[in-house]
Amino acid sequence: MAFLADSLARIKPSPTIAVTDRARALKAAGRDVIGLGAGEPDFDTPDNIKQAAIKAIEGGKASKYTAVDGIPQLKEAICRKFLRENNLDYKPTQITVGTGGKQVLFNALMATLNPGDEVIIPAPYWVSYPDIVLLAGATPVAVKTRMEDGFKMKPEALERAITKNTKWLIFNSPSNPTGAAYRRDELKTLAEVLMRHPHVWVLADDMYEHLVYDDFQFFSLAQVEPGLYERTLTLNGVSKAYCMTGWRIGYAGGPELLIKAMATLQSQSTTNPNAAAQWASVEALDGPQDFIPKHNKIFKERRDLIVSMLNQAKGMQCPKPEGAFYVYPSCAGTIGKTAPTGKKLATDEDFVTELLDAEGVAVVQGTAFGLGPAFRISYATKTEDLEEAGRRIQRFCGNLT
Ligand SMILES: Cc1ncc(COP(=O)(O)O)c(C=O)c1O
Repeated sequence: MAFLADSLARIKPSPTIAVTDRARALKAAGRDVIGLGAGEPDFDTPDNIKQAAIKAIEGGKASKYTAVDGIPQLKEAICRKFLRENNLDYKPTQITVGTGGKQVLFNALMATLNPGDEVIIPAPYWVSYPDIVLLAGATPVAVKTRMEDGFKMKPEALERAITKNTKWLIFNSPSNPTGAAYRRDELKTLAEVLMRHPHVWVLADDMYEHLVYDDFQFFSLAQVEPGLYERTLTLNGVSKAYCMTGWRIGYAGGPELLIKAMATLQSQSTTNPNAAAQWASVEALDGPQDFIPKHNKIFKERRDLIVSMLNQAKGMQCPKPEGAFYVYPSCAGTIGKTAPTGKKLATDEDFVTELLDAEGVAVVQGTAFGLGPAFRISYATKTEDLEEAGRRIQRFCGNLT
C-alpha cells in the first residue's frame, strides 16, 4: 500500500517558491545572484501596522484563540473597506478571514468542489489555482490568452469554455503573473457572459487591487455587475499592498452559505489566523493609506525601466501591463538558439535555467503559469538590482548563437 495519498500525486511544489529557494541556495554558495522570482514587495511593513500588533500583544489581545474566521473588529474593518473601495455591501456574517489569501482560496475550493466539477482559469494563471482545484479532485480548465490581447480573456473564449459542469471561474485582475488589469468595459462584457450562465460562480481575486499605474481605475467584478453578487466570492488580503506577506492574513466577502462552509473547514485545519496579525490588519485597513501611492510611484518607475530594457534585448518582447509588480516577456525569439554552455534552448525552462547559470538572474518559466515560451519577472526588487538584471538579460540574449 502506498504511504502517500493519491491526491498528492496530482500536485507539484509551487514553482515560484522553488525558484526563490534555488536562488537563495546559489547565493549561500557564494554566487552573485539577483532573484526576480519572489512575489512580494521589497518594502517593510509600515510602522503604524507593526505598532498595532505590538500593542495587541502587550495588551493581552493576542494570547488566546480567536473566532475561527476572524475577530469582529477585523470583519467590520473589512466590511468598511469593501464598501469604501469597491461599493460592495457585505455584513460581517459574509466575511471570512484566513491565514493568507491562499488559505481563503483553498477553503473556498475545498468546500465546494466535487469530482467532475470544472473550474475555468484564464492562462497564464497564478500557479496555485490549478493545483488546489486538482487537490480537491476537480478539473481545471485553462483558457489561454494572447500577448496581443494584453493577456486578457475575451468574452467569446469564456463562453466557449463554460459547460454544464463549470462550477467556478477564477478571475484575477491585476494578474499574477502578467500584470494585466481589466478595465470596467472589459469586465462588463465578461459579466454579460456570466449572467447568461447562472450556475457559474465567480472567485474574484483582487489581491493586487491597489497596485495599479498610469491612472488605471480598479473595479471588482461584482461591483461592475451587481447581478453577480449572490454568486461571487471577492477575495483580497493585506499581503501585497500593505507589505505584509509574512503576516499571513487574507480575507473574502461572499454569500453566507459559502462563508459558513469555509469556516467549518478552517475550524478543522488551522483554526483562527494569527491573532496579532489580525489586529495589525485592522490598522492596515482603517489606518493611513498614504504609503500606497508612494510605493506605486517606485513600482511604476521600475516597471518602465525593466520593460524598456527587456524590449532592447535580442529576441525578447515585453508588453507594458498596468498592474501588480510583474512583467511577462515572451522569449519566443530565443528558442532554437544556443546558450554559452552549448545547450540549445528548446523551452522557456531551458531559457531560465541557462540564464541563471550564465548570468545569475533568477526568473520563473512561463510554462509554470500555463503559457509559454515566456517568463515572469517580479520587479518588486531594489531598482539597482533590477537595472543590473536587465543588463545581464540583454548580455545573455546577445550572447546566444
Ligand atoms: C493572485 C494571487 N492571489 C492570492 C495570493 C495569496 O497571497 P497571500 O496568501 O499572501 O495572501 C497571491 C500570492 O502570491 C497571488 O499572487
